[in-house]
Amino acid sequence: MAVEAFLNSSKLLQHWPSCLLGLLLVLAIKYVLNQRKKSSKNYSTDRDGDIETEFEEEARGDLQPALEEKPHVQFVPGQTLNPNGARRFLELVRGRRSIRSFSPLTKPSLGVIEDCIRAAGTAPSGAHTEPWTFCVVEEASVKQSVRAIVEHEEQINYNKRMHPQWVTDLRPLQTNHVKPYLTDAPYLILIFKQTYGTAKDGRRKTHYYNEISTSISAGILLCSLQAAGLSSLVTTPLNCGPALRELLGRPVNEKLLILLAVGYPTDDCKVPDLKRKRLDEILVKY
Ligand SMILES: Cc1cc2nc3c(=O)[nH]c(=O)nc-3n(C[C@H](O)[C@H](O)[C@H](O)COP(=O)(O)O)c2cc1C
Repeated sequence: MAVEAFLNSSKLLQHWPSCLLGLLLVLAIKYVLNQRKKSSKNYSTDRDGDIETEFEEEARGDLQPALEEKPHVQFVPGQTLNPNGARRFLELVRGRRSIRSFSPLTKPSLGVIEDCIRAAGTAPSGAHTEPWTFCVVEEASVKQSVRAIVEHEEQINYNKRMHPQWVTDLRPLQTNHVKPYLTDAPYLILIFKQTYGTAKDGRRKTHYYNEISTSISAGILLCSLQAAGLSSLVTTPLNCGPALRELLGRPVNEKLLILLAVGYPTDDCKVPDLKRKRLDEILVKY
């Protein structure tokens, strides 16, 4: 037995150059595969990790774009607000303020809200994935449920979850966990980012840069509401997303980005005395 083992090991010793070569080859292949995996992960765009898991799957040979491949069409410039479009738009958006006292007595038509959401839907999006859902709530009982969820979580947020510095920074805005505007405002718009979609073949469709795309869309919505003479309040209630998603029966790929209150201000509505940064503080010319 011992002799046989000795003979085997000496044979191995004889062949050590080819063994070493084989080992080096295996290591080199492993290195190349690792590098390829790393470089595909570099394209990850979502901080929630959804895209990373998407790309961990090995690329198949039959990959198809999510959009139909067809010839491009002639670009036709859209309508402009000229003359002085930029100045007129500036005057419009300068008048926007976040309000926290909404009149429960006056209500814009749903058609106006729909037009504003149509405008929001014109936003650019990563690879034209349009990764947004706008849920419009006007039913009093649903608004009441939204308020109950938000006030419950916000009480914990203010008392425990938020850093004392955060609570201190909010003091000038005079906000707290009580949110009457959630039931007073005639409309609540819950803006969800779709973290992924479903392709025609049933596979997961990656929604690149879904948070940035949905935020741009929300910005257009704010401007449209302003153009319609409506006021709004952007809120981002901490820890409320899953409960609000369930309340509205939205699917798990949708994550709440913004809870927007929309309507008209009360006559005695007050806002914090805020100043905007000057142009030379936000513009750098090269
Ligand atoms: C991303 C984001 C999150 C916000 N979250 C809240 C919020 O949770 N509650 C709130 O009362 N206001 C919230 N606001 C409103 C800001 O406090 C408000 O925009 C800011 O004070 C400037 O005031 P203005 O909108 O009147 O210019 C939020 C605004 C943004 C853009």
